[in-house]
Amino acid sequence: MGSGIAQVASQSGHEVVLFDTNVEQLDKAKAKLAKIMARLVEKGKLTTENAADIQARIRYSASMNEFEGCGLVIEAIIENLAIKKTVFGQLEEIVGDDCILASNTSSLSIASIAAACKKAERVIGIHFFNPAPLMPLVEIIPAVQTSAATTKASRDLVDSWKKVTVLAKDTPGFIVNRVARPFYGEALKIYEEGVADFATIDWAMKELGGFRMGPFTLMDYIGNDINYTVTETVFEAFYYDPRYRPSFTQKRHSEAGWYGRKSGRGYYDYSEGAEMPEPNKDEVLGNEILNRILVLLINEAIDAVFLNIASAEDVDLAMTKGVNYPKGLLKWGNELGLENVLSKLDDLHAEYGDDKYRASVLLRRMVKAGEQF
Ligand SMILES: NC(=O)c1ccc[n+]([C@@H]2O[C@H](COP(=O)([O-])OP(=O)(O)OC[C@H]3O[C@@H](n4cnc5c(N)ncnc54)[C@H](O)[C@@H]3O)[C@@H](O)[C@H]2O)c1
Repeated sequence: MGSGIAQVASQSGHEVVLFDTNVEQLDKAKAKLAKIMARLVEKGKLTTENAADIQARIRYSASMNEFEGCGLVIEAIIENLAIKKTVFGQLEEIVGDDCILASNTSSLSIASIAAACKKAERVIGIHFFNPAPLMPLVEIIPAVQTSAATTKASRDLVDSWKKVTVLAKDTPGFIVNRVARPFYGEALKIYEEGVADFATIDWAMKELGGFRMGPFTLMDYIGNDINYTVTETVFEAFYYDPRYRPSFTQKRHSEAGWYGRKSGRGYYDYSEGAEMPEPNKDEVLGNEILNRILVLLINEAIDAVFLNIASAEDVDLAMTKGVNYPKGLLKWGNELGLENVLSKLDDLHAEYGDDKYRASVLLRRMVKAGEQF
């Protein structure tokens, strides 16, 4: 992630220092950028001169002292709170008083990271999506300690990099990694109940729902180890709210080393010559699957608005620009009719007796008042 973010900043004309304790990673980052730049020149998207300038603006360093004089540092090291806190403490000894210190963390609390600094008001979350140069979304996450000036300066700067910024509250998963949970969790549950197999669930979400990838293809792409850990972390961080409950199917796949594409086997077999299973293209079944996952996603989006995690506009922007959803979930809720979304959730809640399916209070209030997003 760090090298992608460095590329974005350099492409916007900044002098960049890319720091890593592991020199091999620096060499890798440099070679990767050279390859990307060559491809962009070949495609006519950059001139040879531009590509050379972008590369020349990045200094690769294994010494943190190079950050002296920087206006902004974006940390994208290992996802470990103790290590991040140590690094932020060290950074503060090196940079000037006006330097903004940001973290690209996907799941850790920005308040905890900021607490490692003497000037906590200069610390903020700036969360890119993978790959950073291609994905337009960036979540800007002020901690309780962050000053309004730090938030404004960070957002203005990232906006000037032609990214789509959304403001998110410092809560587990921020916007995207919170709202997207049912895309995986409910798909896994539908499979576990024997309603349909992986290929059929993927077909329903892709072909009938218009999602770019089905949930099992996507989990195999992200890696079941990574996706399972995020789910477990979010579940614990939400004090074991059943809405975020992880799945044994994914846990077992991860334990077996069936991570997905990177290990050659996940929910699907990626070895050479292996055939992909055929889905059951029964549209009634497909729409039932799509509808069940979709109402849970819409409910999560509405609850994020209810709890002021982000504005309605930013929640819809985040899901379309960060994870390529075909439509904003709140807009989708309007189209389906919020009363229909509520009625489906209430049916599931009554049938399962599981609070996983409880409707957001905001959804209930809006239906009662006849309102829409
Ligand atoms: N991979 C993603 O899709 C993604 C998306 C958004 C955010 N993030 C976040 O970005 C951060 C990095 O993720 P990644 O996937 O790029 O990880 P990675 O393991 O690929 O890269 C981390 C880099 O940090 C270096 N590093 C580790 N400890 C260090 C230290 N103390 N000082 C300096 N460098 C150190 C490592 O050598 C490595 O090169 C994490 O906080 C992660 O949550 C990742």
